[in-house]
Amino acid sequence: MMKKLIIGLFALLPSLTMAAGPSVPLMDANIDLKDNASLQRGAKLFMNYCLGCHQMQYQRYERTFRDIGIPTEIGQEQLIFDGSKVGSHIKNAIDKDDAAKWFGAAPPDLTLVARVRGTDWIYTYLKSFYKDESRPFGVNNVVFPSVGMPHVLQELQGLPTPITEEVEEHGHTVTKVVGVETDGSGEMSVDEYDRAARDLTNFLAYVGEPSRLESEALGLKVIGFLVILFILAFMLKKEYWRDVH
Ligand code: HEC
Repeated sequence: MMKKLIIGLFALLPSLTMAAGPSVPLMDANIDLKDNASLQRGAKLFMNYCLGCHQMQYQRYERTFRDIGIPTEIGQEQLIFDGSKVGSHIKNAIDKDDAAKWFGAAPPDLTLVARVRGTDWIYTYLKSFYKDESRPFGVNNVVFPSVGMPHVLQELQGLPTPITEEVEEHGHTVTKVVGVETDGSGEMSVDEYDRAARDLTNFLAYVGEPSRLESEALGLKVIGFLVILFILAFMLKKEYWRDVH
């Protein structure tokens, strides 16, 4: 817990330096941390499409399954692909140095990424890959220029093309990519892909703060307790005043 807190504090640092932010407006992720069906779909997408490169080394399978309502045996059977024990952390076997060579940057751990970047950024990022032949993997990203990550969800979304705008910058006219247009060649419709991106974002947000789900439940209990206490105090007061009159 303490470890997570310290990591959390460090994770905040880059977000301060990135305060300048991307030049395009972010899309609204509109996530719901209480929507277990969405979190379960997000977890499934993560295990299938992301874990190959990104770890969540501060999060355990077991805890995850329990929090989002997946029975342990089903989780073990359908969401753990490398034979890991259900009590282990969500890790992969990728070599960081190799990965850095392949992608130009090592894929970062994603346990706290939703805190660092914010959920709107992640949602927008997942929807902002576009075709760019000048890049090693043939893709680029509107909110993460020259990104090292390939468009791993291309089979689902298809390969969007860039929408550009001419803008003035330091006295020059430059062409900027301000958005993307889907080509419809993926397995998913636009709405289905939006939902997938939202579910993944929701899952990453949950992992970033599992304690929040717990503290909300605790908060409700505390409020319930206070309400009962208030009623008791009120009745007691009436009881006393009866004697006074
Ligand atoms: C083939 C390897 C690979 C896969 C699979 C992959 N990524 Fe990445 N990802 C990367 C690399 C490499 C980077 C670092 C990019 C850079 O710094 O240029 C990255 C960066 C990111 C970032 C930005 C992190 C930051 O704050 O800088 C996010 C968010 C992310 N990935 C999410 C995902 C999600 C969600 C999935 C699954 C849908 C996924 N990635 C699948 C390789 C991968």
